Amino acid sequence: MTPERPHYHFTPPTGWLNDPNGLIYDDGEYHLFYQWCKDVQADNLFMEWGHAVSADLVQWEHLPVALTYDELGAIWSGSAVKDAANACGLFANGGGLVAVFTHHNKDKAERQSIATSADRGRTWTKFAGNPVLGTDADRSFRDPKVFWHEPIGRWIMVVGVQHRLYASTNLRAWTPLGELPFRSECPDLFPVPFEHGGGSKWLLSLGGRSYVLGNFDGQSFTPETPALPVDEGMDFYATQSWDNVPDGRRVWIGWINNWKYASKLPDFGAQGFMSLPRTLELREIPGAGTRMVQKPVAELAALRGAPLRPAPAELPGVRLKAYELEAELRPAAGDRCGFSVRASADGRQETRIGYDAATGTIFIDRERAGHELLKGRMSSPLPLRDGRVKLRAFVDTLSVELFFNDGEAALTAHLMPGADDLGLAWFSDSGGSSCSALTVWPLKSGARQTV
Ligand code: FRU
Repeated sequence: MTPERPHYHFTPPTGWLNDPNGLIYDDGEYHLFYQWCKDVQADNLFMEWGHAVSADLVQWEHLPVALTYDELGAIWSGSAVKDAANACGLFANGGGLVAVFTHHNKDKAERQSIATSADRGRTWTKFAGNPVLGTDADRSFRDPKVFWHEPIGRWIMVVGVQHRLYASTNLRAWTPLGELPFRSECPDLFPVPFEHGGGSKWLLSLGGRSYVLGNFDGQSFTPETPALPVDEGMDFYATQSWDNVPDGRRVWIGWINNWKYASKLPDFGAQGFMSLPRTLELREIPGAGTRMVQKPVAELAALRGAPLRPAPAELPGVRLKAYELEAELRPAAGDRCGFSVRASADGRQETRIGYDAATGTIFIDRERAGHELLKGRMSSPLPLRDGRVKLRAFVDTLSVELFFNDGEAALTAHLMPGADDLGLAWFSDSGGSSCSALTVWPLKSGARQTV
């Protein structure tokens, strides 16, 4: 069976995609670079940076490959910053964008390099003095995320897997600041605002799997929480947040896949897709403390078609492929309830999403979601509040992304339903649970192929 290309999640025109890279907002555009390989089966030694831009994080315009592999190695993950004042000294007139990325070579040496663009990211020139950081003895030293730290007037770089911190005034010479007490690929470090105003806290992201809140003073990061889960689905990874977004807004995006099976799944003409862009905020959660909440960006409402407001019992008559669903569940004691999505007419294939009151967990059950490698069930604890839980689900051809209680918990999973598996139904194992405020919006495609 050939899987169907996602309708409203970002996909590459051809080839393979994994991590988001070089995320920066500049001059009215969100740039999305990404790990790309021309073959649908990625080869580590030939990774490059694919590129797309968007004015609204919804409609994406594909652009030619931005950074190609070279004699120093493949172009692995990294980030981009705006150097408006030409602090790097590499621009002829004015400033521009600077990409900071890992060169990974055939001996597995990992070193950090830079490239500049004076034409809004359209063309790039690699620095002749690359690499700028690391030696050929360095291993597992990759995924530089750079940002400007205003209070100390320097750029800061956080590098995985070893998790070291560096500072620089010119993006070429980097001074070590120390190590972070956590290790992961694709680290990120940024301030996140409270939902209703009132300041922010620094968040250290560990590859999008977990995060730590704390303080960063320009020298070192002081954790104030343990590592907390980001999304307990199997398939949300390698997140990166956009740099330079106006008004202190923080948005990130991740890769919906898992290295356990990513290269073994069939392709849809291309391979790999991104999550929805998610706005990050902080909220005081009763009984838990300050926590990050994630909400799909508000701009996504532009994809909504006319809403359907069926009674739950009427749902089996609704057949949909790509949609958003909102509901409030009141699970009965000990019951499992929720929705069966992308179900086949014979009932053999489906994905179940919802709440298990016996264990107090939200869940995705993809035991029969269309591919052997995706079999399984994932869950995460979330206490009911006043006996209720709010669900917002985004279903597409190859995935489901769930947000509970306005972003307090998220679950993301890769699915592989057949093109005709369009069933949608409400279920309650005991029959005792109920569902209210059910709304379903068919979603339009966000793709715009213009390479
Ligand atoms: C994470 C990762 C990064 C690396 C990139 C290579 O998914 O392993 O650490 O830079 O993918 O494509």
